[in-house]
Amino acid sequence: MLSLAGKKAAGSTRAVGSSFVRQKHTLPDLKYDYGALEPAISGKIMELHHKKHHQTYVTNLNVAEEKYAEAAGKEDVKGEIALQAAIKFNGGGHINHTLFWEGLAPTSQGGGSGPSGALQSAIVDQYGSMEKLIGNMNTTAAGIQGSGWAWLVKNTETQKLDVLTTPNQDPVIGKYIPILGIDAWEHAYYLQYNNVKADYFKAIW
Ligand SMILES: [Fe+2]
Repeated sequence: MLSLAGKKAAGSTRAVGSSFVRQKHTLPDLKYDYGALEPAISGKIMELHHKKHHQTYVTNLNVAEEKYAEAAGKEDVKGEIALQAAIKFNGGGHINHTLFWEGLAPTSQGGGSGPSGALQSAIVDQYGSMEKLIGNMNTTAAGIQGSGWAWLVKNTETQKLDVLTTPNQDPVIGKYIPILGIDAWEHAYYLQYNNVKADYFKAIW
């Protein structure tokens, strides 16, 4: 279940991802068991999603970065350009899933509870209530064509919250800071919810 508990304010998410220091990315451990989010998300989905899907993004990101370093070492600009799509896709997949796991928690660890403090105030101020924000995010997520993500973000220009989507594995970048993301790829729900993704979006909260 998604958890906004402990989020102090919009924009409190820490940065995740690669740096310019070349080191291998690794699959982050989850802070809960695969079955701990049942019945909202089955243990089988969680295990496959984490061990297989997320691991594949990590593996392919490491491969792409290694090839990129080789191309850069040879001043092969064409080669560098050709690798950018793979770095964006797999790097985005690694960042997005890392944020996703951090945004989920079993009820015993605060999952399903609402936010407090400044974030709660901002949600009520902008959306009227947590329930209305959930409705907004779920409608937005349901409207994604193909694969992508729905996000609650902080807009650093307006200092307001926004709900937006990113396609494929595009991460949240630029003026937006991600607070909470919902994976709207079929691999996140299909084994349990089949084609009724609206039920997955409801249950995940
Ligand atoms: Fe996913």
